[in-house]
Amino acid sequence: MRIALLGAGTVGAAVARLAARRPALKIEIAGAFVRDASRARDGVPRLTANAFDLLDDATVDVVVEVLGGEEPARSLMLAAFERGKHVVTANKMALATHWAELQAAARVAKRELRYEASVGGAMPIIATLRELAGTKVVSLRGILNGTTNFILTKMEDDATFFEDALGAAQRAGYTEADASMDLDGFDPAYKLAICVATIERRPFDPGLVRRESVRGVSRDRLADARRRAKRLRYVAAADFGAKAVKARVGLEEVDEGSILAAPRGPENAAEIATADAGTIQLRGPGAGGEATATAILGDVLALASRR
Ligand SMILES: NC(=O)c1ccc[n+]([C@@H]2O[C@H](COP(=O)([O-])OP(=O)(O)OC[C@H]3O[C@@H](n4cnc5c(N)ncnc54)[C@H](OP(=O)(O)O)[C@@H]3O)[C@@H](O)[C@H]2O)c1
Repeated sequence: MRIALLGAGTVGAAVARLAARRPALKIEIAGAFVRDASRARDGVPRLTANAFDLLDDATVDVVVEVLGGEEPARSLMLAAFERGKHVVTANKMALATHWAELQAAARVAKRELRYEASVGGAMPIIATLRELAGTKVVSLRGILNGTTNFILTKMEDDATFFEDALGAAQRAGYTEADASMDLDGFDPAYKLAICVATIERRPFDPGLVRRESVRGVSRDRLADARRRAKRLRYVAAADFGAKAVKARVGLEEVDEGSILAAPRGPENAAEIATADAGTIQLRGPGAGGEATATAILGDVLALASRR
């Protein structure tokens, strides 16, 4: 498979590194679209500040979108479908916000839009949800934002204040450029909307996810939960009723021995309750360049196996 990278930052550069490290996968990088094409990146043979240099390259099979943000990501994914390319994206914001338009473009082009990396990093939650198509998902509860989990578990472990734990998350490079994405729940709301859309096979507006901010959570509240054998966590949850889906992101007390209490630092976890298959649990690295890149390469290889 020959892939073009839209973006060669934390995730895009890791995709190039992993592809070079594992030649048996036969994934070839055609080049990358970046802002600063004068700065070399390992494993990327051709850098361009004009995305159409790559989108118009007939030898490219798959476009991997790892730019982030709504634009130009949305327009370039649409342009990729118009040119008959498959698209793999890690971009929860563009995908959740423009789900219907992107899926329609893929259908018209008879190409695939794959997005495992957009939720849960290396934790294969989208694949799992797809495999559960034979039953009814009753509820989904997850720790889908690594930054807020890092903050809460740091406050718990070190008895630090919220602001200090946030500072540590920023120094470790875990926070988005816009801190509100994590702290006010936009990021997990986008991810939850993508999960709901995957389960229901229809668009789900991320604006319908009720959000409670994690800002200013106190050490006392965490300690109080702990005394009662609970843990305070930032949970993204969806309940699938007969008529409607209720979705929310907010602080919730979970049992100390539960899968949602287990992730430390930026890890993610999810618990999917089904009507016929009991409860499925997942836990794994929710972010990080290489972990996220494995999910992207998995999607690329799934496309390769269909050729
Ligand atoms: N980082 C993670 O752990 C993680 C995990 C899961 C999902 N994701 C998702 O993956 C995507 C990429 O994240 P990232 O952490 O790799 O971001 P990043 O490090 O900021 O990299 C973004 C890349 O896109 C390029 N870029 C951005 N805007 C551009 C524009 N307007 N024109 C041309 N190039 C542009 C940048 O070019 P320059 O290099 O020249 O600046 C850079 O190479 C996001 O959607 C993010 O939500 C990230």
